[in-house]
Amino acid sequence: MQIERVGVVGCGLMGAGIAQVAATAGFETVVRDVSQELLDSGFTRIRQSLAKRVEKGALTADQQAAALTRLRGTTRLEDLAASDIILEAIIEQRDEKLDTYARLDRLCPPATIFASNTSSLSITELMAATGPERRRRFIGMHFFNPVPLMNLVEVIRTVLTDPEVYRQACTFGASLGKTVVRTSDRTGFIVNRLLVPYLLDAVRALEEGVAGIADIDLAMKLGCGYPMGPFQLLDFVGIDTTYYIANIMYEEFREKRFAPPPLLKRMVLAGLYGRKSGRGFYDYADPAKPAPLEY
Ligand code: CAA
Ligand code: NAD
Repeated sequence: MQIERVGVVGCGLMGAGIAQVAATAGFETVVRDVSQELLDSGFTRIRQSLAKRVEKGALTADQQAAALTRLRGTTRLEDLAASDIILEAIIEQRDEKLDTYARLDRLCPPATIFASNTSSLSITELMAATGPERRRRFIGMHFFNPVPLMNLVEVIRTVLTDPEVYRQACTFGASLGKTVVRTSDRTGFIVNRLLVPYLLDAVRALEEGVAGIADIDLAMKLGCGYPMGPFQLLDFVGIDTTYYIANIMYEEFREKRFAPPPLLKRMVLAGLYGRKSGRGFYDYADPAKPAPLEY
């Protein structure tokens, strides 16, 4: 089976980015979110991101226009039924994802491949929400934020994944312009297994009074050559998403390094989700000069 039509579930930070790269790479793409308002804000992000790619010379104006013609938004899950592959990028909550997969399994023909962009949930657990046939066509495709700029995708197989489906998924990842790394279904895969404890440890260092937000960021940028400090990156990924990820990883490993620090929980309760809500470890009221949270 040739992959020609792509369905994306979720039009948040990641879903919008995945839909953008799929449409840019020439695939007919339908992206679904739960309300028109959320779809509209996802499409605004896509338009801004494409415009930035054109500005930087990474895309021509014709490619930008063609990508937009291949992209369609919907609030109906049924509109994804004609997809050859469905890339799921909804919130990192187990029950929400299980419910979505059970519904998609009923809607889609047996040939459709299901791929989850989960950061921390088990692909096998998500797969188990579908019927026996689909389980052979269920994989993880874990992209990185911001999807249009980050060149990696982790492709994850379960013990039941059909080798031909896995090969197709790897080829599809490469056709989106990404470098593919192959991993098995272990929580956090490669990148988050190593990255998440580092980010959580930065919050613990802050809580312990090692240094302030701006100094920790500066130290890791200049001391390690990282493009962003840990708090800039936490704001970028989303404080809510990081909190969900930490809870899931802690539940899996029962190790302190994966436990969500208390400050993270309080920030979620206070609605400080990072860049996407305008405030996290920094306040983006003046985006040119984000001010660190008074902590
Ligand atoms: N689309 C979307 N966002 C774009 C963009 C595009 N085409 N071009 C630039 N950006 C964004 C940047 O995020 C940032 O936003 P604002 O303009 O709104 O402030 C800004 O544009 C900075 O862009 P620059 O033009 O200065 O770009 P840069 O060359 O500095 O690179 C970057 C930006 C690639 C994001 C770089 O800072 C970087 O590599 N940061 C680290 C990102 C990272 O580690 N991502 C992985 C997160 S972990 C993950 O994804 C897994 C998980 O499961 C949690
Ligand atoms: P987000 O909060 O920006 O977006 C999630 C979107 O999913 C929201 O727009 C929400 O309305 C939508 N949604 C919720 N339930 C839905 C449903 N049933 N159908 C369709 N849409 C639904 O989150 P995000 O950062 O885009 O994360 C999405 C997924 O990608 C998560 O599994 C996350 O762990 C993973 N991920 C995130 C990052 C990151 O850096 N943020 C990186 C890699 C992977």
